[in-house]
Formats: sequence, C-alpha cells, structure tokens
Amino acid sequence: MSKEAILKASDFGDDFLWGVVIAAAQNEGGYKTDGRGLSIWDQFANKQGKIKGGTTPAIACDFYHRYKDDLLLVKALGFKVFRFSISWSRILPLGTGKINQEGIQFYHRLIDECLNLDLIPYVTLYHWDLPAALEKEGGWTSTHLIKWFTRYVQICTQEYGGKVKNWIVLNEPMGFTSLGYMIGKHAPGKMGLSNFLPAVHNAVLAQAEGGRIIRTNVPHAHIGTSFSCSEIIPATQNKKDIEAANRIDILLNRLFIEPSLGMGYPSDGFALMDKLYLHNKAWKFTERMRFDFDFIGVQNYFPVVVKYNAVIPIIQASDINAKSRKVPATDMGWEVNPNSFYNIIQQYAAYPSVKKIIISENGAFYKDKMIHGVINDTNRIDYFKQYLAALLKAKNNGVNIAGYFAWTLMDNFEWSEGYHARFGLVHVDFKTQLRTVKQSGHWFRQFLAQ
Ligand code: NOJ
Repeated sequence: MSKEAILKASDFGDDFLWGVVIAAAQNEGGYKTDGRGLSIWDQFANKQGKIKGGTTPAIACDFYHRYKDDLLLVKALGFKVFRFSISWSRILPLGTGKINQEGIQFYHRLIDECLNLDLIPYVTLYHWDLPAALEKEGGWTSTHLIKWFTRYVQICTQEYGGKVKNWIVLNEPMGFTSLGYMIGKHAPGKMGLSNFLPAVHNAVLAQAEGGRIIRTNVPHAHIGTSFSCSEIIPATQNKKDIEAANRIDILLNRLFIEPSLGMGYPSDGFALMDKLYLHNKAWKFTERMRFDFDFIGVQNYFPVVVKYNAVIPIIQASDINAKSRKVPATDMGWEVNPNSFYNIIQQYAAYPSVKKIIISENGAFYKDKMIHGVINDTNRIDYFKQYLAALLKAKNNGVNIAGYFAWTLMDNFEWSEGYHARFGLVHVDFKTQLRTVKQSGHWFRQFLAQ
C-alpha cells in the first residue's frame, strides 16, 4: 500500500483544525444588493479584456443568498472551520463615511449560522476587494489608506468581536500589491514602482495596525495574517542564478512577513528593497510595521524555479515554468510538488518569532468533467493526498501547525481567470447555481470522518 493511501485525519491530532475557505468577491455576488457599494473588482471586470471570458463577479456563486445551504455543505463534508472574508464595500459602500446596516446584518446572519452549525468562523478582513470609491482616492497607494482601514476594522471588530475570535487581517498582500499595483493584471490594474512601493508599505502598516485593533477590541482573539509563499529554487548552482533566486525569495516570501516580525524590510543588497526602504522612509516605521501575530497563515500552491535574466528590469530574474521543465502540473500550469510545500513550511517555521502556522489555503484547479452527474476528480484527490502527507511530515518534525484550510469550498470567480479555473470541492453550475459535490469533496468527507 502506498504511503498516501494510509493517511488518516487522526494522524494530525484531535484538535487539528480542518477548514475550507471562500472569499467575498469570489463567491458572494449580490454586488448591488442591500446597499452594497462597488469594489475595484466590479469595476475592473467591466473593462474589456481584463477577465477571461469577459465575466464579472456580479453574481458569482450567489453565496449572499445561498449561504445557509452552502454552510450545510461545509458541515456535511465534515469541516470544522469556515474561513470567509468580509466585503468592505458591503459594510461601508463608499469605503468610509456611512455604514450600511444591511451589510452589517448579513455578516451577523452568516456568523450566527456558522455558530448554529458548530462551525468555527475564521474571518478575513481584506481579501482583495477594496471599495471602488477609495480607489478613486488612490486606493492602497494613498496616505489615507491606514485611516480608512482603521475605521473599517474598528467597525468589524466591534460588531462581530463578541462572536468571532479568529481573525486574518490580510489575504496575500504580495498578491494584491504586485498583481494589482505593479503589473496591472488584477484590480485596480495599476502598474509601476510608483504604485507598488507605497502600496506595499501601506499593506505592511495595515497588517500590523489591523492586528492591534483586533487585540484591543476582541477579548481572547486569535489573530493572524496570511501570506502567499513558494519555495524558490535556483535553476542551476551558478552564482547568478542563486542570486536571482534570492531576489525572488525576498519579494515572494520575505517582504511582508519580516517587517511584521519586527525585522524591517529584507534587503540583502537587492536594489529594489533599498528603493522601497527609502521611498517609504521605512526607518521611521519599524515598530509600527510589527505585530505579535498568534499565527501565520501560509498559503502555498507551487514552487518557483528561477534563473538570472538580464533583460528583466529591476529584478533581473525570470521563472522557468512547469511545462518547459516537464514536471507534473495542475491545469493552472502550477507545478505539483509536495516536497516544496514541506520546504516552504520549514522556511516560515524557521523564524524564531513565528509561534504557530495554519495552512490557510492550498488546493488545485483541474478541468473537471461531469459524467452522468459525477465529477471523478482523481487528480485533485491525489493532489490533496500528496500535500497532506507533506504537511504531516512537517508537523511530525516538530513544526507547530494548527490547521489546514482547503481552497476552496466551491468553484468560484478566479479573478482574472474568470469562472473557467475551478478549484472547488463542490462543482457549481453557474447558469443554475446547482451545487454538485465532486469526488474530492467526498474524499474529504470520508477522510475527516475517520
Ligand atoms: C490565492 C487567493 O487568496 C485566492 O483568492 C485564489 O483564488 C487562490 N489563491 C487560487 O488562485
């Protein structure tokens, strides 16, 4: 029998947190319902050519109206934790100013329903959907960002802090600052260093400030923030490739966690980091960038193989994709490499002040086929088995890992990929909103029931 076949949920311990994740902009829909304001994703998706298939998040999975049934699915699959994000523009349609009571009430109903079902809510405060009105004023590049974010977090924690103890301040700050403010592939579609450098700094400050507000407002809070991360592997052992890999490691893995641990921005002689430091007068902010998080959310999907590339401005590095290396990959083109998952967990665990890790996202997109109503996604099941085996190895080697949250409950709006990139354990027919549990969902149910 193979090693994966004998993996058991109980190997992870009785108090291990098994969860599943969604995000407001990807699932809720109801984009104008009950007073919600537009987010940058509503606007961005309406620009031609930004989203594959020309789709928008306006309806998505209609979770706004179907949350009760969807939570029953979470329960039926056997998960204990439900991680979701709050849509800022549902709470404050213009990002600041007047509060939308109907938006406030929606999350009360959602949280109450979780608690009724004995699901532990993990609430993400920011999963990429800035109110569009704030983007007009500069969004994440604005010097007012912290003031806006502070008010939003004050409102959320005062409203829900009595019921919700587990908070994640930001989801993948490197994701939304680089894709949204450097290369323009994601909302709001801005580009260049003059946008990226202030956006990074504001995200770093917001991350710590958010943590402080939660600590003040929520008794017994369990506070984290989540990072996208990838093991960075130099293409060869040549000095130039190793240095190029180091630069990418700084950007993809170290840029947001190190200031939060009180280490300031990483540099290692990487000129871009010196620019970031100078641009933001970062010497003034070391303390404000720091927050003593109870846990770090690690989100990993693939490793990145890096070579020196003189023609790429600033970073002088590029990746060698999975296809050209002929390694196993998902239909996203992301390398399947459980060993690199193990390695990146070790890399994050090696920071002495990281107290605890939760895998706050991990999962795979494969093109599913429904045959007679059944989606037999064996490739996704294999993916989970391999990644969970690597996780268990890290845990057994002494890393303090408290939980694993699968991305994602159901197929949803995968940002610039639109609806074709399906990561769900549950299939969604976007015409009828019919949900069908995939075999991977059934696999989890059996695995968690042991
Ligand atoms: C990271 C993001 O947090 C999530 O929104 C996204 O859908 C998944 N990765 C898959 O790309």
